[in-house]
Amino acid sequence: MITDMSKSLISIQDFSKEEILHVLETAKEFEKNKEQKFLEGKVIGSLFFEPSTRTRLSFETAVNRLGAKVIGFSDASNTSQSKGETLKDTIKMVSNYVDMIIMRHPLEGSSRYASEVASVPVVNAGDGANQHPSQTLLDLYSILQTQGTLENLTINMVGDLKYGRTTHSLLQAMSHFNPKFIFTAPEELKMPKEYKDFLDAKGIEYIETADMEEHIDDCDILYMTRVQQERFTDLMEYERVKDVYRLKASMLAGAKPGMKILHPLPRVNEIDQDVDDTPNAYYFKQAENGLYIRMAIISYLLGYR
Ligand code: CP
Repeated sequence: MITDMSKSLISIQDFSKEEILHVLETAKEFEKNKEQKFLEGKVIGSLFFEPSTRTRLSFETAVNRLGAKVIGFSDASNTSQSKGETLKDTIKMVSNYVDMIIMRHPLEGSSRYASEVASVPVVNAGDGANQHPSQTLLDLYSILQTQGTLENLTINMVGDLKYGRTTHSLLQAMSHFNPKFIFTAPEELKMPKEYKDFLDAKGIEYIETADMEEHIDDCDILYMTRVQQERFTDLMEYERVKDVYRLKASMLAGAKPGMKILHPLPRVNEIDQDVDDTPNAYYFKQAENGLYIRMAIISYLLGYR
C-alpha cells in the first residue's frame, strides 16, 4: 500500500497509539519475510554525528533489505562540519540528495531542528539525552513478543535514568498501555522531574528506589541501562556511580518465569555475562528486532506500509 503521507519521527510522541501499534504489526510481517524490495530507486541518508553500532547498522540493513541505497557517514570528523559547516547547511544540502534522513547527534533538540530545515522526512536515531524513538519501538516490539501484550505490565527501569534517552522515550510510549513503573537509580541518576510530572498528569503509578535487588521479583520487564559516561560534565561524579549496579544470574532466582531482561546495549558491566544464558535474557534478540522495526519505520514514514 502506498499512501500520500510522509512524516518525520523525532519523538515517540509524534506517533499516536494507533500508529505505534501499526508499526509493530508491520514489523511482524518483516520478521516473517525480510526481503521486500519495494523501495528500489530511493536513497536514504544515514548521518551519524555520534558513535553507534546497532542503530546505524540495523537502519542501514533495513534500507538494503527494502531495496533502497544508503549514503552517509559514521564519523562527522570526515565531513565539512570539521571546516565549520553548520548543521542547518548540512541538512539542507543532504535533503537535496536523498528521500529520507536518519540522524544521530549529541545535541538535544538537534533532530527536531533538522526536521524543520529538511525537505524530506527525518528520523531521530538519538539526540543527546533526549529521545531515541526507533529504540522505543523495538523495545515495545520486544515487550509485545515476550509478554503477549503491552497492557498492565510492570516495568523496572534500572541504572542511568537521568541521561538514558531510551528510558525517557519508553516511559512515554508505555503510557498508552496502563503500566506501572519502578525506577531504580542512585540519587545522582534519578528519573528527571519532567518525566515524573508527565506520569503524574496521566495518573500512572511509579515508585523510586536505589536498591536493585528490591524489585527484581515484582516486574515483567527489567530494563537495564548503561551509565552514560559521554553525558557527564563532572567525571568524578561518573566515577562515583559507574559501577552502581551489576545484575548477576543468582539475583534472578525469584523472578517471574516470563520476566525478560531488556537492555538497549551496549552494556559495559551492568549485566554479568552469566545472565546471558538465563531464560530471562532477551537483549540480543531485542537488538535483532531493531531490524524489523526499522524496516517498518522507514516504510511507514515514506508512505508505503
Ligand atoms: N541501542 C543503541 O542505540 O545502540 P547503538 O548506540 O550501538 O546504536
